[in-house]
Amino acid sequence: MSISEAVNSKDTFLKSIDERLQIQRLFAATRMVASAPGSDVVKGLTQSPKSLPAYYFYDDRGSELFEQICELPEYYLTRTETAILQECAGEIAKITGACELVELGSGSSTKTRILLDAYQELGYPLRYLPIDVSAGMLESSARQLLQDYPQLQVYALAGTYELALAQLPPTHSPTRMIGFIGSSLGNLNRQECEIFFSQITNALQVGEYFLLGIDLHKPKQILEPAYDDSQGVTAAFNLNMLEHLNRRFDGDFDKTEFEHWAFYNESERQIEMHLKSKRSQTVQLKSLNLSVNFAAGETIHTEISRKFDLDIIQQQLATQGLVTIQTWTDSNQWFGLLLCQLQR
Ligand code: AVJ
Repeated sequence: MSISEAVNSKDTFLKSIDERLQIQRLFAATRMVASAPGSDVVKGLTQSPKSLPAYYFYDDRGSELFEQICELPEYYLTRTETAILQECAGEIAKITGACELVELGSGSSTKTRILLDAYQELGYPLRYLPIDVSAGMLESSARQLLQDYPQLQVYALAGTYELALAQLPPTHSPTRMIGFIGSSLGNLNRQECEIFFSQITNALQVGEYFLLGIDLHKPKQILEPAYDDSQGVTAAFNLNMLEHLNRRFDGDFDKTEFEHWAFYNESERQIEMHLKSKRSQTVQLKSLNLSVNFAAGETIHTEISRKFDLDIIQQQLATQGLVTIQTWTDSNQWFGLLLCQLQR
């Protein structure tokens, strides 16, 4: 036995990263398939006004760009939520007790570390189930976490929220918390929001927890720059969706022929992002058998980012049995965090 092997064998009580990592790729079971891959693209691009589902932002490049957005001076969301989490993670861990953490749209899992730290500090076992459509991001951030938390077990699920929530593996800990932070809820319209909450309710046992982070309504002067930053990162993020579609569906979008457009729709209380065609043009998506005409100035609606009110969202959650145990916010009341429990 070499010296390094001898040193390693002394540490065998610490399992290797690969032993603590499981990655499951989720596929729709036939009974769940509402439609073929890309049918949402066909639907969105053949209706008027045109639209595309926001989850197409997140190929590996898009996830990277989103990480850069989170660092922008104008994008207050991530900084504010991180500060709130740093304040309240200990309280959350005390309320839930030993708990495994499911996270929807985990991305780089940066904010998750604050929660993992809090559970670790209380001596609880750490099991983490990140869910993300970007398999590349999922695996690399899981490996990074496993390296930094030698006691951590990761069960990663690559797929959409909908699929993951319908197929969560059984809970190993006394309880479970599903985290949906970063105000990703903002991407869902009112009706989608209702459906999403019912999926959460179905995925939880009575007594289990739901942690929700939401961006709150505020003046347009603060909101708009957060979605139209001076360095053009958000523009690149929006335009990257076209490259993603090109790769996925053998398309010929020329992203230099479109421009980023973002504004706050005050009556709907939502940021809207669009891609505006600079001229009249035709785009093909060969594997979808789709040819799309754009007039000069015509737009594709790519995202809504709704801005919430803490009281209203609590009422909405309560109608689905998700009772708010506690809320936290920052001194500006820019961002809110809610800890809910399923009670029936
Ligand atoms: C990940 C949905 C929370 O709406 O703020 C950031 C996505 N879009 N900049 C958001 C996004 C443009 C982000 N969410």
